Amino acid sequence: VVAKEAVGDLGCLVRQLSLDQFENESRRMHPANNDQSYSSKKALNRQRSPQGLHKKVISLLLRPRNWNAPADRTFFLDSYEVGELCYAAEQIFMQEPTVLQLKAPVKVFGDLHGQFGDLMRLFDEYGYPSTAGDITYIDYLFLGDYVDRGQHSLETITLLLALKIEYPEHVHLIRGNHEAADINALFGFRLECIERMGESDGIWAWTRFNQLFNYLPLAAMIEKKIICMHGGIGRSINSVEQIEKIERPITMDVGSIVLMDLLWSDPTENDSVEGLRPNARGPGLVTFGPDRVAEFCKRNKLQLIIRAHECVMDGFERFAHGQLITLFSATNYCGTANNAGAILVVGRGLVIVPKLIHPLPPPVNSPESSPERAMDATWMQGT
Ligand SMILES: *[C@@H]1O[C@H](CO)[C@@H](O)[C@H](O)[C@H]1NC(C)=O
Repeated sequence: VVAKEAVGDLGCLVRQLSLDQFENESRRMHPANNDQSYSSKKALNRQRSPQGLHKKVISLLLRPRNWNAPADRTFFLDSYEVGELCYAAEQIFMQEPTVLQLKAPVKVFGDLHGQFGDLMRLFDEYGYPSTAGDITYIDYLFLGDYVDRGQHSLETITLLLALKIEYPEHVHLIRGNHEAADINALFGFRLECIERMGESDGIWAWTRFNQLFNYLPLAAMIEKKIICMHGGIGRSINSVEQIEKIERPITMDVGSIVLMDLLWSDPTENDSVEGLRPNARGPGLVTFGPDRVAEFCKRNKLQLIIRAHECVMDGFERFAHGQLITLFSATNYCGTANNAGAILVVGRGLVIVPKLIHPLPPPVNSPESSPERAMDATWMQGT
């Protein structure tokens, strides 16, 4: 727990708290998600009107306690519905500035990468965006990389878009480097769309999602004191205005170095490596040192940079003496990293509290033989 005034020492304080303490802080919200309200909501939203569609998505997917992956992998929306959802969300993103201006309190989420089960666990443990949850008290900010790598990119992006449509002022999405067609053609999202929606519907939906991604805001400020983006400040970003000036829709093809730094750069290996270094991710990409972070914060009168983009063992990690925090919300990334996932709660007074979830133990039964199978079938009939 870190007071605003102590921001110079924020990192040390964060480090001093053990993970056990973080766990204990978290045992507050265990929202009931009873099936009765779910069924009645579903009945209300059976019509296929654009107004009802995002509510249908929410009622089927926002199930923090009892979401189960569909056993046969079929996705419950057709391409027409994906189109409706993308259109409605796009209308909202078009109206938003490139750098969002948010107020605390806000819950910040790092990379999800299609690990929808982790999103549900985070919602279950720490509250979820619903009037029965905590949306009336706290905003939600997601730092990008919704798709690719995980098994449920479609659920992840459609639920987040539906929540954006339902709570446009309180749910905020910015863009990650995987919200780009040339990347998510290669790392899983395109294939998932084709496998789960069929070749022609799948490609159509994938293309439509990527059109929408070009409209996503690129950064968010919290109380003008904390800046949040997916990657970092790289070599080129010295002022917030440089980000604000980027016009959307935009693709990586236009060759904006500011955009590339924003979505792709990382901090250097550790606090003793200053300046700019080449980034092992690829040619043309850089890492930036703690000196760059300090300079950027000072110049823009900021206390903190919150960014995602890198898998870190505890789900969050400090850099630049606590002036930058890396945040990653998917656990056991790619089934091998064994990392915890975290979100940050930015409270009033800009107190920062990390909340963690840990990797699940590997399932004992294969999906085919598990008792959840029957429930999956029920879940699918509802669609
Ligand atoms: C920081 O990274 C550099 C470069 O990889 C390495 O040589 C150095 O040992 C690291 N320092 C610490 C304290 O880990």
